[in-house]
Amino acid sequence: MLVLGIETSCDETAIAVVEDGRRIRSNVIASQVELHAKYGGVVPEVASRRHLEAIVPALEQALEQAEVGLSGIDAIAVTHGPGLAGALLVGVNFAKALARSTGAPLIGVNHLEGHVYAAWLDREEEPEFPLLALIVSGGHSDVVLVEGHPSREKDYRRIGETVDDAAGEAFDKVARLLGLGFPGGPAIDSLAAGAPTPSIRLPRAKVAGDYDFSFSGLKTKVQRIVRGEEGEAPGAAELAAAFQESVVDSLVTKALAAAEDNTARCIVLSGGVAANTLLRSELTRRSPLPVIAPPPVLCTDNGAMIAAAGYRRLIAGERSGLAMDVEPGLRIG
Ligand code: KG4
Ligand code: ZN
Repeated sequence: MLVLGIETSCDETAIAVVEDGRRIRSNVIASQVELHAKYGGVVPEVASRRHLEAIVPALEQALEQAEVGLSGIDAIAVTHGPGLAGALLVGVNFAKALARSTGAPLIGVNHLEGHVYAAWLDREEEPEFPLLALIVSGGHSDVVLVEGHPSREKDYRRIGETVDDAAGEAFDKVARLLGLGFPGGPAIDSLAAGAPTPSIRLPRAKVAGDYDFSFSGLKTKVQRIVRGEEGEAPGAAELAAAFQESVVDSLVTKALAAAEDNTARCIVLSGGVAANTLLRSELTRRSPLPVIAPPPVLCTDNGAMIAAAGYRRLIAGERSGLAMDVEPGLRIG
């Protein structure tokens, strides 16, 4: 079964063709990062307009690379939330038009569920249930227990989340404080890689929920240090490394506790921040369970993960009608 996956929730116009929810036949990602970099963040109106320009070429490329015509596509999966309303609308309307003209079934996909299903792509073995998913992106930091493929009867269980900033948002804000570019995650990742072992230890936030996170206090702490309010500031690279160490330690500690307490059989690490080198290595090093961290290109936003998640819903008989709307505030679990 060939599913076309369409993703336009933020600043990537992404279309993929995936076979049976697992084998990637093509995965085209037109990133808008450079367009937004000069504004220091994603500008919603600019994102929508660029999606409109990029979506037809992305479809053509995805079909060409998959060596299939539109008539060979069995179903269409599209992100309908969460994300920027105007950006989501471009993908959803495009998907509806394709479904209408080809007669292929249509399924709306939760972007966060897509991040979980990146763990099924291009791997020999399927992840085992129950699994613990740590979804860390620019908009979300969720700890989710997945007891089986979700259906109308069995949903995800969100057991932890951030109480303030998402992990990616914290990376982006701290990168701005350090004078690095946008997006901040990759910039901090590479700057920290060349840094000496940090001489300072930044705090790990205390939060009431067992598996919850908080990153805004850490950001304020970095701000005070940068402004010289806490004595002589270390260099940017060392500060980036200390910040990254604190975020990674919080994420790994909470995810491992959640996995152990819920007798998970493996841990899935996904979302844009899952591209982080230290997070990947620390989680793998400290976890007694197998850790599935998809390659970075499948952790950041892409159409293949949307096709993979859509496939599961489709084979369970789910369909979305042409009246489907965008859901910018959609959650998982
Ligand atoms: O999942 P994603 O591509 O888009 C959303 O759904 O939000 O995540 C984007 C976020 C950004 O905040 C970006 O700074 C962060 O992921 N990110 C990283 C890295 N690569 C991307 N954060 C830390 N280290 C990285 N290597
Ligand atoms: Zn995402």
